Order: sequence, then C-alpha cells, then structure tokens
Amino acid sequence: MIVNANAHPNDAILGKEIADLGLASYIDDLDTNGFTVIPPAIANPNYLTERMLSICQDIAEERNGNRPDLEAGRTRQDTPVGDTLKALLLEDPVFEEALMNPALLAASTHLCGYDVVLSSLAAFFKGPETTPFFLHTDTRLPSPQPKQPLLCKCIYALTDFNRETGSTAFVPGSHKWARNPEPHENQIEGNRDAVPVYAPAGSLIVFHGSTWHGAYSRQVPGIRASVHLLMVRSILRVTEDFIGRVPQEALDRNSARFAILTQQGVVPGYIDKQDEVEKVMRAMKHVSAFEQESGVSLPMKR
Ligand SMILES: [Fe+2]
Repeated sequence: MIVNANAHPNDAILGKEIADLGLASYIDDLDTNGFTVIPPAIANPNYLTERMLSICQDIAEERNGNRPDLEAGRTRQDTPVGDTLKALLLEDPVFEEALMNPALLAASTHLCGYDVVLSSLAAFFKGPETTPFFLHTDTRLPSPQPKQPLLCKCIYALTDFNRETGSTAFVPGSHKWARNPEPHENQIEGNRDAVPVYAPAGSLIVFHGSTWHGAYSRQVPGIRASVHLLMVRSILRVTEDFIGRVPQEALDRNSARFAILTQQGVVPGYIDKQDEVEKVMRAMKHVSAFEQESGVSLPMKR
C-alpha cells in the first residue's frame, strides 16, 4: 500500500463529499482543464436557479426601475459584462442556498480548501453587444502566479450559456501555465485555443483563479443571466465585507460552515491588543463550531 505523506485528514472528508455528490468526473475536469460545468441534475436542487432568476429580476426592478426582459431586452453596451447587481447575499435567503449548495462547496473546497470564504456574490445581465472581453485570469497577481489556486469563480447559468448567447470563453489547461496572458495572446475571437463553454440553464460553471477566460459577445436578442460567486482562501482580502454584518437569523438557519463562508472565522485588522483578543475570540468561536460539526481542521488559528 502506498501512503501519501502529504495527505491531509481533510482530504478523506472531501473525497467522500465528492463521491457522494457524483462529482468525481467534474473535479477531474477542473484539474485537467481548469474549468468544469456541473449539470443541473447535480447543481440545481429544488429549482434553485429558477428561483434566483425571478428574485434577481425583482431586485433589478427595485434598484433600477425596470425589470430585465430576457426575451427582447437590452443592457449596457459599453461593457462586455452588461448590467450588474452587486452585494446580493443578504438580499434574500435564496442566495444563502446558492452559497451552501453542496456541489459548489465541494468544487470550491477542492480548489481553495475548507477555509474558503465568499468574497462577492453578484448577478449579471448581458444583452447583445460587441465589446470584446479579453482573456484574463481572476488571480490579480503579476506572472508568475502560484500553482496552488488562491481563488475560484462559480457561475450559475440562469439562462443558457453557449457561443451565440455570449458564453464565457476558456483556454483549457491554461491554469497550469500559472501566468497571465500577454497582450498578443488575449484575444478571444479567432483564438484557436479559446473555447466557448456550453452550459444549459441550471448548470454551475466553476473555474480555477488562474484559468484564462473572457466572454464572447452575445449575438442573439435577449439577455443572458447569471449569478457569480467569487470564492477565496481566507487569507486573502475580500471584495465584500461580511464580518459582523450577517444577521443572527441567517447564521441560525444555516450550518456552522455558513459562518466560515461568510468570513466570521477570519480575524479582521485590529487596533490594539485588547481589540485583537476580542476579534480572535469571536472568530475562533465560529472556527471551533465548524470543526466540531464537520471533523475538518481549518488553518485559521493564529
Ligand atoms: Fe474574470
């Protein structure tokens, strides 16, 4: 029997989660290609994406005064990402479900560990446009980048993603190069290395933070809708600050992992020793609760 001296006890727990969810081949995709498409049968329990789409349309209407028309609507054309709805987690419990989706958690954990936290949760509505979305990585470091992922992106396709609807483009295997594309490499149109992702509504697209990606322009009428979760290792600075902002009822109705995912186990910057002690004690309460609940060990203790 070969014993892997580098194996961590968390690996066995995650391996069981992946097997139980039927995710093994999608995790292989992630390792080989740097991205995967988890199909609706696994990624979309209880019509999650249909409910998210309806709620995102409600929020857009409330915030912007008009409801996105998925069949014939248009969005901003001066950006390839269209219209965005930022900071959605605390808007409706459906986004807690999106974060706690076991398939999303298993894939994110495979890439970034059990200490992974949510950095941002936003919706995107993308209508017809011709603005190129150049290839880039989401790991905002100069080349060379670390081989080990620091972050990953999870995208729920709320409508169909394909070449004509303006899907994400990926360069398969580019995460292994651990570098950013050079300017002469970052075009999508006509790039033989870039491929469109095909993901029917209800799918979950997951990719490694160093995978080269961009997006095709939408060529057909109507709007492509998606919800994006940026997941990062707990040591990184986050985009949205959730520490101390998550209502107690949201913490109560979810497992202890939800607190970890919403940064409650992270010790924020302190101003003096007493402040440090208070912040560490608060964070460690959540870390210990999750460790007891799951059997995993987290690297957050300092
Ligand atoms: Fe990106």
